[in-house]
Amino acid sequence: MTEGKVWLNGSLVDYDNAKIHVLTHALHYATGVFEGIRCYKTVNGSVIFRLGDHMQRLLDSGRIYFMDLGYTRQQLEKAAIDTVNANGMEECYIRPIAYYGYGKMGVNPLPNKVSVAIAVWKWDEYLKGGDGADKGARLIVSSWTRIDPKSLPMGAKATANYANSALARVEAIKAGFDEAVMLNAAGMVVEASAENIFIVKGGVLATPPTTSGALAGVTRDSILAIAKENGISCEIRDISRDELYIAGEVFLTGTAAEVKPVGEIDNRTIGDGKAGKVTKQLKSFFEAAVHGKDKKFSKAWLTPIN
Ligand SMILES: Cc1ncc(COP(=O)(O)O)c(C=O)c1O
Repeated sequence: MTEGKVWLNGSLVDYDNAKIHVLTHALHYATGVFEGIRCYKTVNGSVIFRLGDHMQRLLDSGRIYFMDLGYTRQQLEKAAIDTVNANGMEECYIRPIAYYGYGKMGVNPLPNKVSVAIAVWKWDEYLKGGDGADKGARLIVSSWTRIDPKSLPMGAKATANYANSALARVEAIKAGFDEAVMLNAAGMVVEASAENIFIVKGGVLATPPTTSGALAGVTRDSILAIAKENGISCEIRDISRDELYIAGEVFLTGTAAEVKPVGEIDNRTIGDGKAGKVTKQLKSFFEAAVHGKDKKFSKAWLTPIN
């Protein structure tokens, strides 16, 4: 997208005017926190998926970094709705970001003003995988270790975490794969560069705990709730690298990637290389929920925008 409006510190400004100074603190020292949210079309109009939970995570990420955003959760929710409406979007990706701005250089961010912005764009398929929705993505285990929670607070969705993600993602793409799986310092599976990971073994779902260094993904939480509702049991536990290879099914979850089947990891085919039965079920339950077709979740998860 190259036109439309961006919400910047309380006002909707033209796309071309949503600019920052080169001496913005966050640009030099990665002192920003952000979110990724999706707006979906339903038969009753467009809705934003788990808007409150995303804005709460943004505020929590800010709190971890001593960053006072200057807006309440309700004000941020309204700002996101106003931005989608100002751009006339029926379905889109929403990117709120809060960052330490321009003022005083040096590693300490605190003397700088915090800015908050919200941009929207159309983002249909974030993560390519094979030749169709059914064909799984091809993954490689990264040579880069996921940031240890003792080094950075991985409960914050902070820009600082994404240099590590970008190195892993670029490594995977340059090696001819779609996405990277990251292990922690103990050699256990954490997540992909921008998605949480699940395996299915003997009909039981498993995903690594957030203490592994994984982000507490909103999609991950939604899948856990949907699985529970549909009688699919799920374990939150450490997963080793070799367990990935022999899992019956593997899939990734994230706001941008949604539910993405995995067909291959480190050149080993997972299952038959296509979306497995449980993955397909959960993917279709998730799609029903985000499009307002599962009334059990609509009230808690969907915010109408008009
Ligand atoms: C590193 C990482 N893990 C997991 C996720 C999935 O989180 P969510 O489902 O909240 O988008 C994301 C995306 O935000 C991410 O960047």
